[in-house]
Amino acid sequence: MASTAADPGLSPYDRIGGMAVFRAITDRFYDLMEAEPGFAALRAIHAADLAPMRASLPLFLAGWAGGPRDWWDANPGKCMMSMHAPMVIGQDVARQWADAMARAIADVAPAEREMAEALSAMLTRMALGMARN
Ligand code: HEM
Repeated sequence: MASTAADPGLSPYDRIGGMAVFRAITDRFYDLMEAEPGFAALRAIHAADLAPMRASLPLFLAGWAGGPRDWWDANPGKCMMSMHAPMVIGQDVARQWADAMARAIADVAPAEREMAEALSAMLTRMALGMARN
């Protein structure tokens, strides 16, 4: 769908570019996590097989941004925040998540830059807020 910053009727999901762009961002996020030594601590707390997360995270982010609610349909009653609560997420790992996501968004470079930057800033804030120590 063509999107313009001037159309206030579009959701953040539409303005970012829809599901294909959310998939590109999350694939880049996990590629970086797998390849970069600077994200090793973050990689270490994930399961060996990242395929389920590659499938799931774009659906979560898409629905959270106002797109299709597939993640909630597939996970009734599941709460993303309480799901992370038992994980021991230190500031270093939270920072790695935020940095990998910000880089992924910058690398994919969604056409509507202002919305991409807002998404990046919001996810950074969320990730850093999830650190326990
Ligand atoms: C603070 C840094 C974060 C860390 C260290 C982290 C780590 C993890 C880990 C280890 C998993 C389980 C994956 C597995 O078992 O392989 C997970 C799942 C998940 N994370 Fe995070 N996470 C962070 C922040 C976030 C943020 C900010 C969001 C969303 C805005 C998010 C969304 C999700 C979702 C939706 C799942 C579950 C997918 C599913 O089961 O369907 N995470 N996370």
